[in-house]
Amino acid sequence: MTSTSTDRFTGKVAFITGAGSGIGRATAQAFAAEDARVALADTSADRLNETAQLIRDNGGEALTLTVDVTNADDVQQAIADTVSAFGRLDIAINNAGIEQEQTPTADLPVEDWDRIIATDLRGVFLCMQQEIPAIIAAGGGSIVNTSSGAGVIGIAGQAAYAAAKHGLIGLTKSAALEYIDQGVRINAVAPGVIDTAMMGRVTGGTDEGRQTMTAQEPIGRMGRPEEIASAVLWLCSKGGAFTVGHTLVVDGGQTVG
Ligand code: NAI
Repeated sequence: MTSTSTDRFTGKVAFITGAGSGIGRATAQAFAAEDARVALADTSADRLNETAQLIRDNGGEALTLTVDVTNADDVQQAIADTVSAFGRLDIAINNAGIEQEQTPTADLPVEDWDRIIATDLRGVFLCMQQEIPAIIAAGGGSIVNTSSGAGVIGIAGQAAYAAAKHGLIGLTKSAALEYIDQGVRINAVAPGVIDTAMMGRVTGGTDEGRQTMTAQEPIGRMGRPEEIASAVLWLCSKGGAFTVGHTLVVDGGQTVG
């Protein structure tokens, strides 16, 4: 494998949800570039194949798994398939998520609330239920859950998304305490405004929309998916060995003030 490998992840197996796009894709590529074998999970088979091709073109090894993280059977099968294909599971990145349309709480359709909580919070719980025993069986490892700026501050018009992303931090902290004595380090990452397909939907792809979102960023620009991936990899690396139940905010200063 041609990479600037530091041997952080050689021989490791990483399972990544939402790997068909944005932060998940960049994270999968970053693990593969450091010689991890990656299991890519997403609802979109086409986008999964694109990610897998990018990884294989670079000499990496990738398995594609069409999975809806809101479906417990899908998730159970995906982890079983990962262990069956690669023999173990060391790392899991629970990153699949959906955004909320800007809506005040009293106007938010209950179906939207249910869909967002089912994906962004319950989906992570379902994944962790399957991942934790598999990682323990491998002798320990790491889980990183993707929260958000909306996981650490309130945002008007984003009640369901913020509830899910705040809840995910509580889930992360509690599970971290439960499993650290078995060698499973569980942390979260909270990205700021990151230039992905999701952000394209949020901004409507217009200059004005992009400027509005960029205005939230003291750093003066959107983040790149790779900038979240590098934080996720650090959390999973030996460098992060003493980091437990933490939410690493990587947001250009968005939530500082
Ligand atoms: P994205 O929309 O570019 O990619 C998300 C991927 O997740 C898509 O490929 C989609 O098919 C997949 N996905 C959605 N629902 C799924 C389900 N039920 N089962 C399996 N896969 C599913 O989004 P992006 O921006 O890469 O976001 C990734 C994560 O980062 C999300 O959890 C998001 O909430 C979070 N985040 C994103 C920020 C941003 O500015 N882009 C900021 C803070 C957090």
